[in-house]
Amino acid sequence: MKLRTPLLAAVLFGVLAAPLAAHAEGDWKKGRIYYRMVCTACHTEKTGAAIPPVGRTKAEWTAYLSADKHAKGKDTVSHYISQKYRESIKDSNKAAAKFVSEPDAQLMDDVRAFIMRSAKDGEVPASCS
Ligand code: HEC
Repeated sequence: MKLRTPLLAAVLFGVLAAPLAAHAEGDWKKGRIYYRMVCTACHTEKTGAAIPPVGRTKAEWTAYLSADKHAKGKDTVSHYISQKYRESIKDSNKAAAKFVSEPDAQLMDDVRAFIMRSAKDGEVPASCS
């Protein structure tokens, strides 16, 4: 009987801590707004396709984001996340304006959280974003 309490505590801790840990990685709701209104808006306009998170697995996205080569290496994903880029489009893009003072690393975490959640093997695969 003695063993059960620590075990239960460990299980409960795991269950309760998991969502907190996921949250610390970034706010997927903010990431979703940015992804849809900045990334997808341009993809639809320039490539005629949305390039949704569901098109890749979490592992593929992780590799893609850490390589940080965008549009076949012409530029970088971090460029399109950067405050400098947000400043440059804020007059015509509401999401860029809304998140204009967000630190780059924070916004990258938010976008990553949304991508991972909506990836092919994510919690909630999203095709329409
Ligand atoms: C100003 C326009 C624009 C913005 C903003 C933009 N992209 Fe792209 N993206 C493109 C274009 C154009 C391509 C296609 C390039 C090609 O096929 O040569 C592309 C391609 C991609 C691809 C396919 C693989 C690759 O790199 O070719 C991914 C994934 C991607 N973008 C992710 C993102 C993410 C994430 C964001 C937002 C943080 C973003 N893009 C913002 C224009 C944009």
